[in-house]
Amino acid sequence: MTKYVITGGKPLYGTIDISGAKNAAVAIIPAALLVDGVCRIENIPQISDVTLILNILQDLGAEVRTVNRTTVDIDCSHIRNQPVPYQLARKIRASYYLIGALLSRFGSAQVPPPGGCDLGGRPIDQHIKGFTAMGADVDVRGGYIHATARDGRLKGSQVYLDIVSVGATMNIMLAATLADGLTIIENAAKEPHIVDLANFLNSMGADIMGAGTDVIKIRGVDRLAGGTYSIIPDQIEAGTYMAAVAAAGGQVRIHNIIPKHLECITAKLQEMGVSVVEDGDDLVVSRRGALNRANVKTMPYPGFPTDMQPQIAAVLCLAQGTSVLTEGVWDNRYRYVDEFRRLGAQIQVDGKVAVIEGVSQLTGAPVRACDLRAGAALVIAGLAAHGVTEIDSIYHIERGYEDIVRKLTGVGADIKVVITPDQEEAQPNVG
Ligand code: EPU
Repeated sequence: MTKYVITGGKPLYGTIDISGAKNAAVAIIPAALLVDGVCRIENIPQISDVTLILNILQDLGAEVRTVNRTTVDIDCSHIRNQPVPYQLARKIRASYYLIGALLSRFGSAQVPPPGGCDLGGRPIDQHIKGFTAMGADVDVRGGYIHATARDGRLKGSQVYLDIVSVGATMNIMLAATLADGLTIIENAAKEPHIVDLANFLNSMGADIMGAGTDVIKIRGVDRLAGGTYSIIPDQIEAGTYMAAVAAAGGQVRIHNIIPKHLECITAKLQEMGVSVVEDGDDLVVSRRGALNRANVKTMPYPGFPTDMQPQIAAVLCLAQGTSVLTEGVWDNRYRYVDEFRRLGAQIQVDGKVAVIEGVSQLTGAPVRACDLRAGAALVIAGLAAHGVTEIDSIYHIERGYEDIVRKLTGVGADIKVVITPDQEEAQPNVG
């Protein structure tokens, strides 16, 4: 059993370097399947979700060469169109991008339904709606999603998304890149990683316009050639460390970020009495006095990100007064609340709304990470709490946070990885 053991109550001081964005990397790596040649991808975060998706590509015949800690060369010139390995694909949500990528390149794909953090229902009907509009037949047989372009190659089409979906927007973008003709995605998601995927594909020769707005136009091209691309910094990793400073106090320079991507998090923390000062590619975050209560509602970008909801909840637990948190994206993203209560938090949940009564102090306790962001939120709560917090099931956290223990230790946190001789815990499917 591997745990994080945190002795909290110490303010944080120093600098934290932000890694490449997880949710951009897990789309851009499958996008390399569309490229006939070598893609050099820089600023790749070293996290287990990235390792998994690279392993899947290798299984399909990609040559993957590590250039340095954050750079890989991927050559998909000799890729095979074969069923994606079941046990790997179902461990990760982003395996659904292999449907769009393989369908675009080969006209057919066989991919297991994706895994994913348990956040309530996670359908992919909007992805399928897009593929179908582009002339694919899609069905599920023998545990696999089978998608086949009726004419051998997808045809450009107009797709209006019924729900703003990050995954569907990027998957349809992948499918349309090598399709015949123009695809228009309306009511598209606008997250920074959507722009990053479009920039990656365009740098390899694709013709995509409008990413970052709600109408994206993709004119299909015959082939993509190789090139070099650097992934954007991780908005959510940066926001998580900003929330950690807000909760634990101190002053930390969050280095190598795009301030624009963090505007809604910055604004909310400022409303709560946290100082956030922009300095080029850095934000300097400090908190000395009391935290003010606030209401937070998560929404698609540029709204407050759902992937920061548990972390901001950790901060609100320590704010003066009553805060109302509303989850606007997922059906069930409050599974962590019982673990927070072990630390002394006062939270009531009714459906998508959580009412948080701030307490003057949290106290350390043994807790369990139930998913990636909930795990990060427990780390934040543990850093602020008095006494010792032990967090288990930390594999969830390591899916999405590169070197979290080293980064926090570097700013003065007392956090250690402790391996107990118990049998290694079984890792269920995550993603
Ligand atoms: N939805 C549908 N049908 C679809 C697709 C989505 O009804 O076909 C619904 C979902 O059930 C949800 C909403 O639309 O209620 C938004 O889902 P979206 O498709 O945007 O989510 P996703 O693409 O599956 C990605 C991230 C999540 C992040 C969401 C929202 C990846 C691999 N995952 O998921 O990240 O919460 O966008 O921003 O990019 C995380 O990093 O912790 C994480 C869960």
